[in-house]
Amino acid sequence: MIHFRQLFDETSSTYTYLLGDPIHHEAVLIDPVREHVALYLALLEEQQLKLSAVLETHVHADHITGAAQLREQTGAQTVISIHGGAPCADVHLQGDERLHFGTETIAVLATPGHTSGCTSYLWRDRLFSGDALLIGDCGRTDFQGGDAGVLYDSITRKIWPLQGETLVYPGHDYHHRHVSSVEQERESNPRLAGKSRDEFIAIMANLNLPRPRLIDQAVPANQLCGHEASHAA
Ligand SMILES: [Fe+2]
Repeated sequence: MIHFRQLFDETSSTYTYLLGDPIHHEAVLIDPVREHVALYLALLEEQQLKLSAVLETHVHADHITGAAQLREQTGAQTVISIHGGAPCADVHLQGDERLHFGTETIAVLATPGHTSGCTSYLWRDRLFSGDALLIGDCGRTDFQGGDAGVLYDSITRKIWPLQGETLVYPGHDYHHRHVSSVEQERESNPRLAGKSRDEFIAIMANLNLPRPRLIDQAVPANQLCGHEASHAA
């Protein structure tokens, strides 16, 4: 049986995902939050899984990643897009390559637009869409190299062509929803369904969202894989 857990950080409404290979007992974590590293380590031990990699969907603006601590404690590799602006990582994804852990394969989909380095990960029947595609929503596009037209292209060209029943596990949800599907989002996402590229760009230009509270602390720390700048070597 495969291992799969969806974990939630209340403070930032971030979802973290644990994927485990049942044969070689290797695992990856997607978007771990630094405050919960002890919990992840306990979960890995409980499930007798060895962490082989920490995958980031992007450089986050709302929480600090647990990547560096997990690397120190487990020897896992840290993985992020080459366009993420995080030279601290062990592996820099070039685009649409494949990753392996144990006998499992993850297809990497470059889905920029929320940030220039946004990446989605497709594993079995599940897409981990980060902040590119959220449930009934999508990531904002007004900082970190965000671009609404690029996000529209990423979603419509990379995600919509996936099988409709592919499960969509987002990077955040603020309304206690856990999972959607490609078909559900393609047909009913209010920002995207039936919207032209220009209509989407206009919607995104008029969101008037407040600046994220932790951005000035989180982005520099995440560019160091979760080390505070003052602690970096
Ligand atoms: Fe984000």
